Amino acid sequence: MRVCVIGLGKIGLPLAAQYASKGFQVIGCDVNKDVVESINRGVSHIKEEPGLGEKVKAAVVMGLLSATTDTVEAVKRSDVVVIIVPLVVDKKGNIDYCIVDSVTETVAKGLQKNSLVVYETTLPVGDTRNRMAPILEKSGLKVGIDFHLVFSPERVSSGVMFDYLRNIPKLVGGINEESTRRGVEFYGKVLDSKVIPVSSCEAAEAAKLFDMVYRDINIAVANEFAQFCDARGLDVVEIIEAANSNPFSRILLPGVGVGGHCAPVYPHFLIKNAADVGIDLSIAKKARKINDGMPKFTVSILKKELGSFKKKNVLILGLAYRGNVKETFMSPAIALIKNLKKSGANVFVHDSLFSKEEIEGFGAMFSDLQNPSSLDAVVLATNHREYRDLDFAELKDKGVKVFVDGRNVVNKEVVEKYGIIYRGVGRS
Ligand SMILES: NC(=O)c1ccc[n+]([C@@H]2O[C@H](COP(=O)([O-])OP(=O)(O)OC[C@H]3O[C@@H](n4cnc5c(N)ncnc54)[C@H](O)[C@@H]3O)[C@@H](O)[C@H]2O)c1
Repeated sequence: MRVCVIGLGKIGLPLAAQYASKGFQVIGCDVNKDVVESINRGVSHIKEEPGLGEKVKAAVVMGLLSATTDTVEAVKRSDVVVIIVPLVVDKKGNIDYCIVDSVTETVAKGLQKNSLVVYETTLPVGDTRNRMAPILEKSGLKVGIDFHLVFSPERVSSGVMFDYLRNIPKLVGGINEESTRRGVEFYGKVLDSKVIPVSSCEAAEAAKLFDMVYRDINIAVANEFAQFCDARGLDVVEIIEAANSNPFSRILLPGVGVGGHCAPVYPHFLIKNAADVGIDLSIAKKARKINDGMPKFTVSILKKELGSFKKKNVLILGLAYRGNVKETFMSPAIALIKNLKKSGANVFVHDSLFSKEEIEGFGAMFSDLQNPSSLDAVVLATNHREYRDLDFAELKDKGVKVFVDGRNVVNKEVVEKYGIIYRGVGRS
């Protein structure tokens, strides 16, 4: 069995390496020439994924993994085609199909009889059947007869890929029964996790979206609880932990905001799907609004302690939307930068996953933690491992008066020991 993986990013490359580790011949496709060249040298361009570097090197050395920019040729030589490119929304929540449509057009050009096409990219409900299948049929092959088509949501997370690939069940929903059977057979061979067939590709698409919307709403509730606790002088973390001691309560933690390709994006897919059939997903919409408002709320916490921002030096710790992952898509840190600058602050950002140029590209000044020499406040925006051991004595020496813990991960007592005011999100 020869497998083609299209999109060798944070998710696609680990998938390609996983399939190769099971002894299958894998061709990875990407539009980025540097990514392709690096993989063909046996070097992973993604450094933050534990175990990925070793797996890519081993697969390339064994001749099981290669990469190319020629997707048509790779599809022609493959029995299974897995598509894992991004599908995102613009600022107004409109879906931008540009990449996934063009990849599908390319797949159609190389599609072979009897092959299996799998969409792992999260799609709105109905898109596998109604949008992707007609494009694939431009190949002259008939879906469900000449080739098989499946939607199988990717429910892993970058940074813990190989752990999740072992432990999170894989959902498979085909365009018809035979497609589902082929999909289940494929994943049974390449994964160690349980494979769960569902009744249709629509069921698999909806399962992924329900999961993400539920999580977004759960975080929004936690964020509202945080605002209540802030106003009442309570500690939201203590209270959520206490509430969750009941096994029926699974409240997530509040924070500075929600970013990345997934949680802020997929609710819009389902909101649109529902609107198309006259259903208003009002709770999902409200949750998006609450979560998008959290950077502003975090700035308001700091303002209460600092007073005016004029000419104050504020350091943001972390540009990435999530700890230990080099990704800025819809990162709350970007909204923090904008809000703080608008209020008149001099904004510095530290994130060792990003270069000086990358940080300056977001309109902030670069900090390597040594500069600037004087600081008024710090906002922790990303739960990077390295921020667990911050040197508060040094921060105090620089003049830091307030530390806002946007991820509620820092020990309050340690900060206060140095005479710095500690504020969390909902921990007044
Ligand atoms: N990142 C996550 O934690 C996560 C979790 C679950 C599911 N997903 C799904 O995976 C998708 C991809 O996420 P990611 O984090 O790997 O994204 P990424 O940005 O890290 O990688 C995407 C890759 O696709 C490549 N690409 C873009 N256009 C292409 C084209 N026309 N042909 C071939 N390659 C192309 C890019 O060059 C890049 O290497 C998401 O949109 C989502 O549907 C992601």
